[in-house]
Parts: sequence; structure tokens; C-alpha cells
Amino acid sequence: MAISDTELIRAWTQVLTLSKLKSGDAVTVLTSDHTHPQTLRCAITAATMLGACVSRLDLPPVNGEKSLSRDTLAYLGTTPLTGNRAAIAALKASDLVLDLMTLLFSPEQHEILASGTKILLAVEPPEVLARLVPTMEDYHRVQAGVALLKGRREMHVTSAAGTDLHLPLGEYPITAEYGFVDQPGRWDHWPSGFAFTWPNEGGAHGRIVLAKGDVLLPMKNYVTEPITLTVKNGFVTAIEGDAEAELLREYIESFQDPEAYAISHVGWGLQKRAFWSTLGLYDREATLGMDARAVSGNFLFSLGPNNEAGGSRTTACHIDIPMRHCNVFVDGLQVVDDGKVVESLMKPAKLAAHKEAAHA
Ligand SMILES: [Fe+2]
Repeated sequence: MAISDTELIRAWTQVLTLSKLKSGDAVTVLTSDHTHPQTLRCAITAATMLGACVSRLDLPPVNGEKSLSRDTLAYLGTTPLTGNRAAIAALKASDLVLDLMTLLFSPEQHEILASGTKILLAVEPPEVLARLVPTMEDYHRVQAGVALLKGRREMHVTSAAGTDLHLPLGEYPITAEYGFVDQPGRWDHWPSGFAFTWPNEGGAHGRIVLAKGDVLLPMKNYVTEPITLTVKNGFVTAIEGDAEAELLREYIESFQDPEAYAISHVGWGLQKRAFWSTLGLYDREATLGMDARAVSGNFLFSLGPNNEAGGSRTTACHIDIPMRHCNVFVDGLQVVDDGKVVESLMKPAKLAAHKEAAHA
């Protein structure tokens, strides 16, 4: 269902207000050939109405001849900003960049963020943005997830389908994606709603069994038959199953990069307004699949780079796999039970502390 400009401007206004946009702030809207025109015009309208000084920077797409997919997350590394000093300077001079292009996992993005510029990625279809417009409740829920990951030494994931995955933790930071950028130098993605981290280098081990209804991204397919991944010393060493396993193997092999098999970010979804079923309702080129990445109670793991977390892997291959019906434990504490978050643990940290104080 299409959405009106009025609703989308309302959603942008909410995101920009949560992002603490002030009158006089310099906002640069980063666009490319695939930028959605309604998202663009509503972003510019909302930012202008809030008093921002708005510019648009349009850059040509790159990597189209290398990638097997049109998905903007399917091929990482070089971006339209690589070597573009003038564009980088413009973005560093901005208070806020609205990324309607997909500038992700690049040294240029780190450089821009380090200058204090905030970056908000927003490339899902307009009605998805409006349905999943972030709220303070989302923020508190994700912060509760982050608090559960802090100081933990191991994430353990199991499932009735046969997953038994051990992920030692502590080496890499914990990341909160709640859909707005409220601090200088912060990056976020609207829509989202999940907490995650990265396993210690070389430490992930065990078995992942993808089951019916799990999602492969960027393929944007639901798995329809079991695919078993063997994980040793931080890397997937075998992908077994029938035709779907063969297709997944072929896709990863096409990058000809051993780093493509590394276990990357791991965490769980917390977004209650996201749904597993949404992916089946959209044209695969219209969406990134953020519903499946964020849906409350998923176990989301990734294969590929960890430079986003400060690691050294920069492989162009990036596969996100949200799984259903998993159990997730952190140091033995169950946080996801058969694909449902343990709600009593996901209360806002402040509220929980309040309650404890009241009981004391
Ligand atoms: Fe990812």
C-alpha cells in the first residue's frame, strides 16, 4: 500500500526530532540512482521545515559490474565516496547526513563519523519506513539488549533444528541499532531495532542448521530445506544440504575470498513492528529485508567483514541470516526462547533499575 507524503513527512520529522536536529544544522542528503524519490522529497521537506540548511549530494553507483545482485548491501568495500575528496569534505562539514544511497562498511564512512557528523541510512520502501519509524520505546528495548550483552563471555545458540553454536565474546564492541542518531559521530539505520556484537577472532565454533522459514540476505529467500553450516575457529568450513546449500556455496565462492566465510556480527532482533512474513510480500529488488533483520526474537548472524567493529576483515561478501525458533543464551542466561525474546529481560534499563530500587 502506498503512503502519502504527509505521513512520510511526519515519520521523517519524528526521526529527525529523535536525532536532535536543530534549526541551522547542516543536513546533506546523499543520493544515487536507486534513491526513492518520495523518500528524498519528504526528507528534504521535513528537514527544511525543522529549520535545517539542506543540501543534496548525488553520486553515481559503483560495483554494479562486480556484484551478482542489485542489493546495496551485497557487495561492500569501495563506495561512490572512495577517492572522492570533494564529496568527503562536504559530508564531514555536515552535522547530519541522510544516507539514501547506502554508504556502509567503508573507510570513508568511518572518517566522516570521526569528524562528528551523524549518518542515518534510510533506503527501505517509504511505507516500511513509516511503519517502522523509531520510537523511544524501541530505543529503550535495544538498550536493554545491549545491557544484556555487556561484559558477557559467551553467546550460545541452539535450536530444535540442530543448531548448537558457541560464540565467545568480549573482544569487540556491542552495537545498538535503534533507528535514529542522537549523538555526534553516531551511525544508525532506519528501520532497525536490534543489539549485536562480534565473536572473538577465531573463536566461533559449532553447528548452524538453517531451517524452513529462515531467511537468506541478500538472496531474500526463505530457506525451504535444511542447510547445515559447520563452524570452526571462527569460520564456516562446510555448507551441506541439497540444492539451496549448493546455491549458497556458489554465491560465496564467487567472491574468491576466504574471509567471506568468517562469522561476523551476532545478536537478536527486538523490533515488535517487524514481521517474518513481510519479505514474501515484496519485490526482492524493492527491499533490503530489514523486517527479517530486526524482527523481535530472531537470531541474526552474518558472514563476512568485521571492519565495522574495528577488525581487519574487509571482504566484499556480506550475508545476513536471520533465523527463527532459536534459543539464545548469554553466559547461560536465556534471552531468546524458541524465537521469542524473554520479555521480562527486555525492560528499559532505567525502569528495571527503578523497580529494583523500589524493592530494596
Ligand atoms: Fe550484516
